[in-house]
Amino acid sequence: MIIRRPADIASSQITPEHVYLNRRRFLKTAAAGAAGLAASPAALSALRGPDDQEVPARFRTMRSEIDEELNSYQDVTQFNNFYEFGTGKDDPYKNSGDFNPRPWTVSIGGEVAKPGDYHLEDLLASESMEDRVYRLRCVEAWSMVIPWYGFPLANLIRRVEPTGNANFVEFRTIVRPEEMPYQRTSVLNWPYVEGLRMDEAMHPLAFLATGVYGMDLPNQNGAPLRLVVPWKYGFKGVKSIVSIRFVERMPLNTWQRQNSMEYGFYANVNPEVDHPRWSQARERRLPGLFKNHPTLMFNGYADQVGQLYAGMDLNRWK
Ligand code: MTE
Repeated sequence: MIIRRPADIASSQITPEHVYLNRRRFLKTAAAGAAGLAASPAALSALRGPDDQEVPARFRTMRSEIDEELNSYQDVTQFNNFYEFGTGKDDPYKNSGDFNPRPWTVSIGGEVAKPGDYHLEDLLASESMEDRVYRLRCVEAWSMVIPWYGFPLANLIRRVEPTGNANFVEFRTIVRPEEMPYQRTSVLNWPYVEGLRMDEAMHPLAFLATGVYGMDLPNQNGAPLRLVVPWKYGFKGVKSIVSIRFVERMPLNTWQRQNSMEYGFYANVNPEVDHPRWSQARERRLPGLFKNHPTLMFNGYADQVGQLYAGMDLNRWK
């Protein structure tokens, strides 16, 4: 895959690091398998991916630009929601090994001047890729601070030239039941669908991620391309995107369809609007155990995004 790295790092520094990490992970896993240790603690730690000494150096001591400590690579990649691979938080990590996200094509259609099937490499080749640290705040009230890698969604939108009828953008996850075991069940309606209003999608904070911690997204985090909308609950961050459509009407997203009493379209993080079954005023910052972290309006991004919702009743538009 061709990906451009941030300007401050020479590619000669990156490629060996990346190759090195993959090779090490492979060797560790292979060694664990060969020794027949599949279920032992030693084998589990071998599958854990890079430890602190192995993540790219620039992240090791980094406090994020939002001045909060980053979650570890382990937190970010072993506590996930990705129902295609199961409903438990470690299911995506354990069950996504057969998923093959390369090569990858994204179909772009609907109200656009330049519809088509775009190869991921081609989409990425024209982007300048960036690291961005954003909070991820789940509707279940846990949160993490994650160094994502990717590019602004607005860049892709400009490139395909939406028409004047494009009021919303709808995203869909791939359907591949042979590689995604829970797509063989009806735990959700497949494919997973999400949407944004056009002005939300064009906001500079809305981001298409291809990596975490400077490395390609692992399968469980939504390889090879997923959405990150930092001021909204995590379920808006649709993973493994294969379709982007520009539409006139508000799309019906998966969780609204699943349970419209509990989930709305906007899903802006809001400490004052409770989920019907629990309060959203406090959150559990992983790996902590307690909800002792006050939730911030729009997940802390109110200054940047509050204007998008001026005049809207946020109690009604959940
Ligand atoms: N995308 C798909 N395709 N399937 C899912 O089940 N879960 C969502 C979102 N994207 C989900 C998905 C939810 S509920 C959350 S909180 C985030 O992914 C979690 O992202 P993470 O696992 O990278 O932390």
